[in-house]
Amino acid sequence: MQHKYYIELLQGMLGEKRLEHSLAVRDTAAGLAGLYGVDRRQAAVAGLLHDCARDLPGEEMLAIARENSLPFDDVEEINPVLLHAPVGALLARRQFGVQDQAVLRAIALHTLGDEKMTLLDKIVFVADKAAPGRNFPGVEELRQIARQNLERALLCCFDVAIILSVRRGELIHPKAVQARNGIIIFNHPGRNF
Ligand SMILES: [Fe+2]
Repeated sequence: MQHKYYIELLQGMLGEKRLEHSLAVRDTAAGLAGLYGVDRRQAAVAGLLHDCARDLPGEEMLAIARENSLPFDDVEEINPVLLHAPVGALLARRQFGVQDQAVLRAIALHTLGDEKMTLLDKIVFVADKAAPGRNFPGVEELRQIARQNLERALLCCFDVAIILSVRRGELIHPKAVQARNGIIIFNHPGRNF
């Protein structure tokens, strides 16, 4: 099974906790995909590989981004951990051999999101926050919402992340704000979500 090969590769790239998280996101994403009529296989692969670049040092992420002309801005330069999503998509293609653009896109967008997200993008984004092992105030509620209303769950993920960053005095990436606005605009008006 392909996942076995992916897991072996991941073992060389991620710490034990991160690998455990990746497996949990794989399973959560596959479950949500079943609920929302999305290809479970795509969701499982994107969930499993979403953090494949997460344990690289920041300098290396910046170097990979530069070498491969991945665009990044001041916020990402100060906070290179944000680059693990697009760099992860690159590694998923190069090192894991993933060619499915929808899967690569979901990996690339799993941290900052985008104004326009596909169902698969949304599922991987929400699964990352709602997976077993995540522990923050409101996570149980998020898990419940995720099974009932994906849009609302996605909004909840952005709210939690943005509020936490503000409390910590961290930078907020404009893409995250645009993505959050995108959800509200997409669901407005007259659509109860
Ligand atoms: Fe991540």
